[in-house]
Amino acid sequence: MNATQEKLKAHVEQALIAAFGADLAGVDPILVPASNPKFGDYQVNVALSLSKKLGKQPRAIAGAIVEKLDVSEICEPPEIAGPGFINLKLKTAYLEAQLNAIQADPRLGVPAAKTPKREIVDFSSPNIAKEMHVGHLRSTIIGDSIARILEFQGHDVLRLNHVGDWGTQFGMLIAYLREVYPDALTTANALDIGDLVSFYRKAKLWFDTDEAFQETARQEVVRLQAGAEDTLHAWKLLCEQSRQEFQIIYDLLDIKLIERGESFYNPLLPGVVEDLEKSGLLVENQGAKCVFLEGFTNREGEPLPLIVQKSDGGYNYATTDLASLRYRIQQDEAKRIIYVTDAGQGNHFAQFFQVARKAGWIPDDVELVHVPFGLVLGEDGKRIKTRFGDSVRLRDLLDEAVSRAHADLKTRLQKEERQETEEFINEVARVVGISAVKYADLSQNRTSNYIFSYDKMLDLKGNTAPYMLYVYARIYGISRKGNINFKELGNNAVLLQHETELALAKYLLQLDEVISSVEQDLLPNRLCEYLFELSQKFNQFYDRCPILQAEEPQRTSRLVLCDLTARTLKLGLSLLGIQVLERM
Ligand code: ARG
Repeated sequence: MNATQEKLKAHVEQALIAAFGADLAGVDPILVPASNPKFGDYQVNVALSLSKKLGKQPRAIAGAIVEKLDVSEICEPPEIAGPGFINLKLKTAYLEAQLNAIQADPRLGVPAAKTPKREIVDFSSPNIAKEMHVGHLRSTIIGDSIARILEFQGHDVLRLNHVGDWGTQFGMLIAYLREVYPDALTTANALDIGDLVSFYRKAKLWFDTDEAFQETARQEVVRLQAGAEDTLHAWKLLCEQSRQEFQIIYDLLDIKLIERGESFYNPLLPGVVEDLEKSGLLVENQGAKCVFLEGFTNREGEPLPLIVQKSDGGYNYATTDLASLRYRIQQDEAKRIIYVTDAGQGNHFAQFFQVARKAGWIPDDVELVHVPFGLVLGEDGKRIKTRFGDSVRLRDLLDEAVSRAHADLKTRLQKEERQETEEFINEVARVVGISAVKYADLSQNRTSNYIFSYDKMLDLKGNTAPYMLYVYARIYGISRKGNINFKELGNNAVLLQHETELALAKYLLQLDEVISSVEQDLLPNRLCEYLFELSQKFNQFYDRCPILQAEEPQRTSRLVLCDLTARTLKLGLSLLGIQVLERM
């Protein structure tokens, strides 16, 4: 609900009480956007729902409400329609005043959160020694956008990279490298991540087929956990190697993260098991320590255990998550903890959330949210793969988007017979390529799978980043052509006459509503839809209304509309992690 809608709602609530007495205090007036814009902007449907209770005709009830309803500052005189709807149409003068008011506001009328809180966004979180894959790309893009929106709203956001930097895989990898490439364990940068990943694969193969190697690998884990110097040193080198590679991706995508990997919580794991024991939840099952879950059963219908310590003494992914959860609540004092991962991990989150709740570790004012997302599919509808059948290397995928944007741009420049510097071309290609990938991901409802198509995401038409960047650049084109400095337009200049101006104006005033809905539901695609719709409304206005050629006072008013649209696009896109271009 936006600020106007809230004001109107309060007025109708007062009118209800004035007409029918205090009994009706707290009744929802059912104020909704008009079903048909011909009749106005909002409609009040409460008269129909009160008919039974009051024993009156809905039209008579609507009449009584309207008699007491004072919205003259905001709306034209309310009208009763059909069986008893009250139609409300916003006054043009009201819209003009609202737009004039946001013109000087860097937040464009979006109020910051009334009670800022500490929120944690756990996102990206790839695994060391393994390649970052498209699932991590989705987590990175979606998590970053959510973090940006919460930060904009004034929350104190901790962006945590829960990297998988601990566990049995290191024993395996270190044991393997000791055999085949010991230099990698003592010398920095002896291998690159591609080698590391293929070593990892070979190590895994060996591990799965050779019991003696399994034992060696296990001993290596024990040495790691005991802090044996050479093993620890090797582990650090491997982590550093991966970290450098991840950083390349984060730099390309402009992502800020604080790394706090699984190893950070290692010293806290025994405490988790101890405290679960104390709370009476822990059960020993074939030597493993576990907690039985409600609502999760195996194929035989028996309750499923969450294993927190294996029979060999090792800990699991879930144990680390329990430890990190406690740390985030107790030390970080987080009030909302958001985990962005693929939907396939849904059970994992539901399970350890349940155990933490049962153990009494989650105070009432702390909210735990798993933000799941679907798969990335290739154009054939199957999980995305390169032609070699491996999962796609993220860096290649981003590079390809940029080089395609580069090629598209060159073709366009040729057609338009424009000369641009190499520097300009590279910069535009970079921004367009990266934005296209981000936007294609964010504009889908994250819970569904989406098809990764360079052609679609780079299209200048349609719900794409290039389309919106183009609208932004077009607005700057107007300012260049007319030699206008948007910052120097007069105040109180907005004057709305044409229907496309009114439609654009109303839409500009809905930004606050969209942002607060994303803040709650964590669905950035809503913001994408809003920006797309805004761009279309702007284009309709641009098609129908002359701007630089218009007479004053329209001319300045229209330029203010241009400026407000550009600023809204820039702000909205920045919350999606997308940069704008004044020329492209
Ligand atoms: N490393 C995990 C993966 O690659 C994601 C970690 C998500 N965060 C967490 N706290 N479990 O799937």
